[in-house]
Amino acid sequence: MAKITYIDYQDNSKTIEVANGLTVMEGAIQNDISGIDADCGGSMACATCHVYIEEKWLDKIPKAEEAEIDMIDMAYEPKKNSRLSYQLIVSDELDGLTLTTPEKQS
Ligand code: FES
Repeated sequence: MAKITYIDYQDNSKTIEVANGLTVMEGAIQNDISGIDADCGGSMACATCHVYIEEKWLDKIPKAEEAEIDMIDMAYEPKKNSRLSYQLIVSDELDGLTLTTPEKQS
């Protein structure tokens, strides 16, 4: 279980507990977090689960693989801290993770 804080582009934040084994995207969908559309359900075909990870977490999460990096290029306003939230599997190590959703999903 990890507490994850989702902040939208207008700075509204919501912290929820997400069970280990779910993805950060699934945690958002199951808890009605706005700003993550996840149109393809996590099959790496849409980039609408795009989020910005708080900088201090970038070294603590697994690096993005080539396919994810390519897909992020198609997301709305990608940044160096961009990730696809479906690629992030929740574990105790992610307790405290904070991320921001983009103004819109592509
Ligand atoms: S939900 Fe489609 S790539 Fe993340």
